Amino acid sequence: MNNKKDYTELIKELDKYKLKVKKLKENEERIFSMLDASRDSIYLIDRDYRYVFVNNELLSRLGLTRKQVLGKTFVELHAPYEKEFVEMVDQVFKTGKSIKQEHMSKRLNKWFLRTISPVKNCNEGKTTEVVVVSKDITEIKRAEDALKSVYMGTIKTLARIIESRDNYTKGHSDRVTKYALLIAKDLHLSENEMKTIKTACQLHDIGKIGIPDYILRKTGKLSSEEWEKMKKHSSKGAEMLSNLDFLNEIAPVIKYHHERYDGKGYPDGLSGEEIPIEARIIAIADAFDAMTSERSYRGALSSEKIIEELVKGAGSQFFPEIVDIFLQVIKKHKLLPELPGL
Ligand SMILES: [Fe+2]
Repeated sequence: MNNKKDYTELIKELDKYKLKVKKLKENEERIFSMLDASRDSIYLIDRDYRYVFVNNELLSRLGLTRKQVLGKTFVELHAPYEKEFVEMVDQVFKTGKSIKQEHMSKRLNKWFLRTISPVKNCNEGKTTEVVVVSKDITEIKRAEDALKSVYMGTIKTLARIIESRDNYTKGHSDRVTKYALLIAKDLHLSENEMKTIKTACQLHDIGKIGIPDYILRKTGKLSSEEWEKMKKHSSKGAEMLSNLDFLNEIAPVIKYHHERYDGKGYPDGLSGEEIPIEARIIAIADAFDAMTSERSYRGALSSEKIIEELVKGAGSQFFPEIVDIFLQVIKKHKLLPELPGL
């Protein structure tokens, strides 16, 4: 009798267990079909960089089947593999913290926002896998770029308006850009620094928008009060640009383009290494263009005089290393062609 009761209990327990397993399976299937329905690609990678789970979106991006991907390593599947991604995965395993990164897929010609997060073991709390969610942000990036170019166009127009207020400074920003980029190239600056220099050169005197014409066009010497107003243009320009997210990186470059190596410049009297590298370069390119151009209060300086001024300024107004590079640039690109020996 007892045995019969035990047996019935066991069957009941087994049924309950079966139901639980069924529910778990259904839940699992629901989660998988939810992940497969996602427009973002979602995948799990273990400590050996092996794909443990991949959703449909990733498979269609890769043009591969689930069988071709599961169990393979990231390094095996993507030759040449992306070293930066592997380093980020390592970092998530090490720190247990998520990382977000925007990256461009050259193969698909698309931008993605990747979030790599740790998946922790329920019992031990150890990171056993990482989950990667990759969102296609190409459209957002394109819209951002379009917006940036509208902004840049407007700002460049403003810069041109400032230049046109004074006939003697027409084309100044373009020439400063050209000289500064030649120096930056020979200094082996990064692509990002070159980009900053290019934009900063175009906009370096944007703060002059607030300087009245009678000061900008004055042919004689500026009074000390006028000079004080004029000196504010670098800070004002930086202030204007710091409100625009994508330009706030260049704001300090604009702010400090009139600082000097010896600390006697403005607005903050920074010296030596305190001055951003991009600002050091623009300072010399700006001074060079001022010397080679005719101004309302004087003609262009002779080539001999310009070289003399640059050499004299090395270690006081300018960084000596940048003067050395610039003298070579002048020679190589014949920026002062009429000078014998150069
Ligand atoms: Fe300036």
